[in-house]
Amino acid sequence: MIKIIKIDAIESTNAFAETLLADRKIDSSTCIITNNQTSGKGMGRNKWHSEPNLNLIFSLVYFPDFLLASNQFALNKTVALAVSDLLKQLLDKENIFIKWPNDIYINDKKGAGILIKTSVQYQTINWAIIGIGININQKSFPEYLPNPGSVIQYKKIEIDLDNTLNIFLAIFEKRYNQLKTGQTSLIDREYLNRLYQLNIASDYIVRGEKIKATIKGVNQFGWLQLLTDKGNTIECEVKQLKFV
Ligand code: BTN
Repeated sequence: MIKIIKIDAIESTNAFAETLLADRKIDSSTCIITNNQTSGKGMGRNKWHSEPNLNLIFSLVYFPDFLLASNQFALNKTVALAVSDLLKQLLDKENIFIKWPNDIYINDKKGAGILIKTSVQYQTINWAIIGIGININQKSFPEYLPNPGSVIQYKKIEIDLDNTLNIFLAIFEKRYNQLKTGQTSLIDREYLNRLYQLNIASDYIVRGEKIKATIKGVNQFGWLQLLTDKGNTIECEVKQLKFV
């Protein structure tokens, strides 16, 4: 069972989880959730925007000491699968994709973001803070966001957040157990099947250069594998590739 800590308002659930970990005041399998995240962290230098009381904003704390640091991307995949499972369940008529490395798309809009921070000790993962923002009932978003989407834009009716969190946590436990019991080929297969733009030729900026290429897969370290229109296979890490 996952323990839930609910906080009315907080700057960032990820930052709060880190403070609790530093003070050794938090156990594995804990979810910190807030109604109002005032300074949410996104990937890189991005912020995560969410209006109060409308979306699911939480961090899961786990101690996956069974996982080698070199296999950390398997955790990213597991989380991306769990979030996409939830969106598939809520929006069964839409296409749900995982946009590499771990954004969750509803058709061609970003419906959820994931930010994972880990600590490594003796080559295995000591703790992981898995920050998740899922846009649920927010109808409109600030102009500066490139392509936000939310469940209500497709489903048209408001969704109960507490209930949806419980559904998600059950899904997550199932997925996490797959990881823990070594079902990595299933995780790899499903992650690949959901990958946005898999096998579709498209434009990318790779290490500053615009190229036409096709996504073919992801390697063990989470690097994206592409086949260029010149017939070369290339691998890039997150900072080296931009979707155009
Ligand atoms: C991204 O796509 O840029 C990642 C966004 C992650 C947002 C979540 S919301 C809950 C948790 N707390 C944070 O400060 N960020 C993550």
